[in-house]
Parts: sequence; structure tokens; C-alpha cells
Amino acid sequence: MVIESVADEGRTFEPHAAFVQQARISSKEEYDALYKRSMDDPEGFWGELAAQELHWFKPWDKVLQWDEPTVQWFAGGQLNISYNCLDRHLTGARRHKAALVWEGEPGDSVTLTYAQLHHQVCLFANTLKKLGVEKGDRVAIYLPMIPEAAVAMLACARIGAVHSVVFGGFSAESLKGRLVDAGVKVVITADGGWRRGSIVPLKANVDKAVQGTAVESVLVVRRTAQKIDWHEERDYWWHELQQTVSAICPAEPMDSEDMLFILYTSGTTGKPKGVVHTTGGYNLYTHITSQWLFDLKDTDLYWCTADVGWITGHSYTVYGPLSNGATSFMYEGAPNFPDNGRFWQLIEKYGINILYTAPTAIRAFMKWGEDWPGRYDLSSLRLLGTVGEPINPEAWMWYSEVIGAGKGPTPAPIVDTWWMTETGGHMLATFPGAHTMRPGCAGLPFPGVEADVVDREGNPVPVGEGGYLVIKRPWPSMIRTVYGNPDRYRQNYWEQVPGVFFSGDGAVKGENGYFKVLGRVDDVLSVSGHRLGTMEIESALVSHPMVAEAAVVGKPDDIKGEAICAYVTLNEADQDQSQEELIQVLKKHVVAQIGAIARPDEIHFTEQLPKTRSGKIMRRLLRSIASGEEIAGDMSTLEDRSVLDKLRGS
Ligand code: WT7
Repeated sequence: MVIESVADEGRTFEPHAAFVQQARISSKEEYDALYKRSMDDPEGFWGELAAQELHWFKPWDKVLQWDEPTVQWFAGGQLNISYNCLDRHLTGARRHKAALVWEGEPGDSVTLTYAQLHHQVCLFANTLKKLGVEKGDRVAIYLPMIPEAAVAMLACARIGAVHSVVFGGFSAESLKGRLVDAGVKVVITADGGWRRGSIVPLKANVDKAVQGTAVESVLVVRRTAQKIDWHEERDYWWHELQQTVSAICPAEPMDSEDMLFILYTSGTTGKPKGVVHTTGGYNLYTHITSQWLFDLKDTDLYWCTADVGWITGHSYTVYGPLSNGATSFMYEGAPNFPDNGRFWQLIEKYGINILYTAPTAIRAFMKWGEDWPGRYDLSSLRLLGTVGEPINPEAWMWYSEVIGAGKGPTPAPIVDTWWMTETGGHMLATFPGAHTMRPGCAGLPFPGVEADVVDREGNPVPVGEGGYLVIKRPWPSMIRTVYGNPDRYRQNYWEQVPGVFFSGDGAVKGENGYFKVLGRVDDVLSVSGHRLGTMEIESALVSHPMVAEAAVVGKPDDIKGEAICAYVTLNEADQDQSQEELIQVLKKHVVAQIGAIARPDEIHFTEQLPKTRSGKIMRRLLRSIASGEEIAGDMSTLEDRSVLDKLRGS
């Protein structure tokens, strides 16, 4: 393992007394007691919470059944997450409370109360039924960040259809791969979405993607009113079909382990994997993490800035907050449209109380300068969250001082949350009313989570030393399988280090039990908080006829965390374009294959890639070259040393 030991240094901060006083979990002792109970008696702990916090149509037989790597939570129990997010809030004071508050990029806005959201979801669910969607069928959602994205997810959940949300920034090719892998029957899209003043051509991408797949119908939401191609036999307008269906649609009782959704995420191979989440455990875990870590109150307006195309949007824009009866804010567009102050303007205009965003965004705000937030009244903010990558202490301090501190009645605590698509919900975190904050440290495990830092054999490494971050027992919202590929599930997560869940991150545990996450230890990049497999980008590059071979590595980047750096060898016959032209052609090609998030920042041409004698590309060396570091470590396996000198010159 190449991670060196990291000392537990740095400043610490305590949550403000006025915050602590009203916090849901308001002392370290309270957290410790919850944690201890969850470890000593996991079934009692989770069973009580499940009974107290969720509505069940039928009680479960057994809280936890663990037969590695297969887990069952609340087996025999029946519930519906859409019921828990909607129906149960309709009988009391929350009926006419805002569930979703939304603003579009052009400045239009919509508020949906719980009663209105329930009505929309029922219409949408009946529309899906009319299109032939049945329990267990897969439905893809390829929408902008508009209220209909949440409506569509809840509608699928309501009738037991499995949703697979695909981020609108992914290309037609990427969408197609997911449609095929999941065997999708219906695609829900829009005539476009607004992003930085332009229209994202979602429907045109769907038209390309569905060709040659099993997709039977495309349901189109009108958003931009731009002209789109129409296929009578397959395409339907949502605003037309909803006129033809009933608004009565009871929630389907689902088995606790029935599949809720598939969400694709990048791994170490060329093909993204379909992470499967099920109903009961996911509902409970996203519910309770939202409540305890965001300290959600009925009076809060809470904003998670992630797109619903990512797990963060699933768990913490839609399901977690709505299950709690909270008010969740959604924004369609870019943070710098029409200018760099858009987020702060939204916070002032709506009086947002809780903000959950990513370090990459914070670093961009830092670059844009304090003037932008300085123009707005941010005094409504009472809690700040961060997710997606390790937050550098500079960004943490800026977030705390410029956005959170002293602007409101009390300075806002910062809640760091480490988790991943596979974990479904927060795993390591700083409890806002109970924990000392340590900038750069994710924090302590959530109750029920047994986290550790180990070596390849699974032996705990000494405190203060780097190792692999693993989870030693199942938790309710954990990944159940990789869709259609149980072997990959077992190998990827339970066999890397035998018997424990392998996260793919490196970490260090301090004396105080805090975890500092160091980043990925596999061939996965974290670019602007998004996971991208190096193999995925390499496959996209070599799918271009001019490319013979490609190696992709990450390079530290001030804003994006990691920038994408590609080394490419070309097929000789095609070398008559200028280098600059070729670079542009290949960048465009990757964007068309995957999406704009995967556009390489740098492409270097080389005659040869550094390889071992057995022919493996030595990415470690390329990483050093890309970041301009001295090449250290063992080079005895390198086949041809002269390659390195040539690469340094490129
Ligand atoms: C990877 C998971 C679910 C969160 C959104 C990304 C990195 C995430 C943190 C954090 C340090 C973090 C890890 C992880 N990561 N949050 N607070 N501190 N690293 O979900 O796309 O599944 O990516 O994001 O490297 O493995 P994802």
C-alpha cells in the first residue's frame, strides 16, 4: 500500500452552543450511546427505528439475515417508500406544507405541497401503468433537475417499477449502454433542460439511444418547448397522457427486499456497474441519516445541490428528506448562470436553512471570490454539509467563514459525509450537534456502521497509518448486487479483502476514532466529485479508429480535485492531422461516448506507453509524469526505460 501515514494534525472546532441546544443529537455521549447500542444489539437498534420511523403494511419476520454476500433487512415486511414519502404526511399538519420548492435556471419556479406532490405522483404512476409498466419492470429517467424528476422516481416506486435515473449530462451512447444492461421498457425524458442558458438536447439523445433496444415507449415532459423529433408509435407527452388517467393510485405493498432502483456507477472496468438498492433498508437508512445528520426540522428549507442523476440526489434530495416530511429545494441549472452569485441569490430569495454541496463547488466559489456571497443575505443558513471527495482544509475554512460563520443567529456547523453509491447513505460523518469538527476528516461512523482501516489481508493497521477503508458488517442501505452480475458484486466488494465490504478508498484512523479519507486506491478518478473509471475513458479513446492504445490517469487539480490526463499512441497510417486538431477530435469523441464530465483535460501523444515486461501499463509512472513529480519507487519491472524520457518531454 502506497499511502504513507498521515498525522492527526490540524485545527478543531466545536459546534456553537446555541446550535447544540436545539440539535436532535446534542452530545458526544448521546452519539456514543447510540453507537454502542447499534453494535451490541443491531437487530434491536434497527428494528426499533424501523417501527418508530416508517409505516409498514406488514411487519417483518426478521430484522437482519446475513449470509455473505447476501443480506436481507426486514425480510417478510411490506412497505412502500412512496407511501412513506407522501401518503403518511397527508393526514396531519404537513398536508399543505411544501414538499418540493423548485427554481428553473431561467428563474421560473414551482412549489408542490405534499398534497400536490401526491396528486402528481399518482397521475404519473397511472400514466406509467397505461404505458404497460408493471411491478418489476425497469424504467429509465433521463430528465433535467425539474420537479418531474422526483415525481417520476416516486411514481415508479409507487407501482413497484424499478427506476434507473441517468444523469442528463451523459451522452446518448452512455444512456444506451444503461438501457440495454437494465432491459429498460420505458424512458422518461424531456424536450430539453436549461444549462448555462442553452438547451440540453435530452430527447434527441433518447432518440439515438433507444434504437436497437427493448424500449417500448418514451414519455416526454415539456420543459423548453423547443422543436423535437417525434415518433408517433413510441413517443407520448406527459401533459397529454395525464389528462386521460385517474388520480387514484394506492401504493403497491412491496416486500422489504424488492428492488427499488438501479443506479450505474463507474468501476475499475470499462463498463459502469448497475448498483442495486432495495426498499426497506434503504428507506430507513436514508430517513434516519437525513434526520440526524442534517438535523432536519419541520421548519427547515433544505437544499442538496446534487443532480438526481447521482446517488446523492436519490438519497438526499428525494427519499431521505421527503420520508421525513421535510421541504426539499431543487434547482435546475448551473451555479454560474446568469452570474457567479446564483447559489447565494437562491439562498437569500428562498431563505434556505441547510445547504449540502461538494468540495469542488466550494473551490470554484473560492476562486470566484468572496464578493459574490458577500452581496447576499445568507443569515438563514444554519447547517452546511459536504460530500463527494475529501474536503481540503482551506475549502473547509472558507465554507465555514464566508458562507456559514456568524452570518446567521449562530455559526453553521459543517457536516462532512463520506459515503458512496454502493452504501446508499452516509457512513462516516460529523454529527452537527455532537462532534468536534476536524477540517479534512470525514468523521465518525454512523450508528450501525463498523468501519475500519485494514491491510490487504484484513488486519487492522495501527492508528495513524494508511490502509483500506472497509465496513465489517452489513448496514440497511447497502448495495444488494450488481444488476445482472452477482459475481462482480461478490468479487468487487467482498473478496478484495476477505469477508468485509471493500470501499476502494484509502483512509487513516486517528487516536480519536476519526477517519480521514484519502481518496481512491483503485483505477477510479474523482473528477469534480464524479466517479470515472480510467478504463472507461480508455475504452472510449481506443474506440476511435485513429487510436491504438490509451492510458488515462488523474492529475491533481485545484478546482476539480482530479483532472483527466490521457496518454495515447496512434495508428501510424492516420497521422496527417495537426496535433492540436487531433486532440480536439479525440476530446469530442470521448464526450460523445461518455459525456462532458469525461472530457480529457490533457491528451499527450506518445510512441509508446510505459509497460511492465508482462505488458501491463504502469499507470503509477504516468501519474508521476502527469503531475510533474519525481518518479519514485520500483522501476525494475519497466520494460523500456527510454519511454520515460520521451514522455517527460511530451
Ligand atoms: C466516492 C464515491 C455518495 C457521495 C457522492 C459520490 C468519494 C465521497 C466523500 C467525503 C472523502 C468522499 C470517495 C468515494 N467521497 N464523499 N466526504 N470525503 N471522499 O458518490 O460517485 O459513488 O463516489 O466519492 O472516494 O469512494 P460516488
